[in-house]
Amino acid sequence: MIFVTGGAGFIGSNFVLDWLAQSDEPVLNLDKLTYAGNLHNLAGLSGDARHHFVQGDIGDSDLLAALLRDHRPRAILNFAAESHVDRSIHGPEDFIQTNIVGTFRLLEAVRAYWNQLEGKAKTDFRFLHVSTDEVYGSLAKDDPAFAETHRYEPNSPYSASKAASDHLVRAYHHTYGLPVLTTNCSNNYGPYHFPEKLIPLMIVNALAGKPLPVYGDGQQIRDWLYVQDHCSAIRRVLEAGQLGETYNIGGWNEKPNIEIVQTVCALLDALRPRADGNSYREQITYLSDRPGHDRRYAIDAGKIERELGWKPAETFETGIRKTVQWYLNNPAWVEGVQSGAYRDWVQTNYAGRAQ
Ligand code: NAD
Ligand code: TYD
Repeated sequence: MIFVTGGAGFIGSNFVLDWLAQSDEPVLNLDKLTYAGNLHNLAGLSGDARHHFVQGDIGDSDLLAALLRDHRPRAILNFAAESHVDRSIHGPEDFIQTNIVGTFRLLEAVRAYWNQLEGKAKTDFRFLHVSTDEVYGSLAKDDPAFAETHRYEPNSPYSASKAASDHLVRAYHHTYGLPVLTTNCSNNYGPYHFPEKLIPLMIVNALAGKPLPVYGDGQQIRDWLYVQDHCSAIRRVLEAGQLGETYNIGGWNEKPNIEIVQTVCALLDALRPRADGNSYREQITYLSDRPGHDRRYAIDAGKIERELGWKPAETFETGIRKTVQWYLNNPAWVEGVQSGAYRDWVQTNYAGRAQ
């Protein structure tokens, strides 16, 4: 079996669903169920014996040792993290605990487990760490996209904590020989994306008649990848990646934020027009910028394409249409995640920003 951490979050749950749609190999899924973890994402697996869910923390060494001893996975995929930049600005502590200390504890538990494996089980074992392009910092307009050799220059508490976890993973390979793989992916979007992040927030706010909050001038650039393409890239790296290597994953889809928001508005105008016949664009509101806001991310995904033959299946146009349609088709999911904790967050992040 494989052991997934953070498998009730956005990318992790998409990964578990995709994995079990394509394979009968069971999944052990450890997730703390923070505000971002949502078992409704995995409702399609209820009663499926191939999915074994455990609520717990990647920082819990005793739990990790017991799970590894009892389930004997052939691979670990570490998705668990605090993942939202704005939250890391308001409260970095959880990011340090989960992304750094948690990854360290996980590595220690896996090292002990891997050390006592023998023969083929030991040779074939893999630890795949899921990371982000944000560890590379910010690009100027004409800089080349991030290659795997780009220096680490994280600018937010989130990206700094992810960078630290990448360094620990690297060190466990070089020092202890742990068979690790690291992936650094650009911004994802798609089903089950928590509506604190740009794309789902815009869809949900537009439909609710609320402002569409654009930070600064809206000209910051992100490089968007449909989440199922990220999942297929991770499967490919797990299957064929070279030990100790890192792979950048991206969709060759650089877009300024304002263009993303306008695209979402145009799709909603066509698929679910406003009652008054006006465009959702009327709801766009410019707010004061995010402190330390990275100007541009762009991924050079050439290495994974050359060495492992992976390419994204979706263009931005097909992926964003599917995504908007998914949110329109799943109002109960949206309602379910808009809990008290979510409302408190909206108050914390947006109430103090000048228009
Ligand atoms: P998410 O916030 O939606 O989900 C994170 C999951 O981890 C949640 O289910 C949460 O409950 C769980 N979790 C948090 N702390 C935990 C802990 N201490 N122990 C166990 N579980 C814990 O995040 P996501 O967007 O799905 O991101 C998954 C991974 O991919 C993260 O490592 C993130 O850094 C990385 N990543 C995300 C993106 C993106 O665009 N979302 C892009 C590149 C890389
Ligand atoms: P986000 O989805 O938080 O991802 P990240 O910060 O990890 O790239 O934000 C994507 C971009 O959208 C980023 O440049 C910040 C911007 N943004 C807004 O303009 N308004 C918002 O309300 C949010 C959440 C993000």
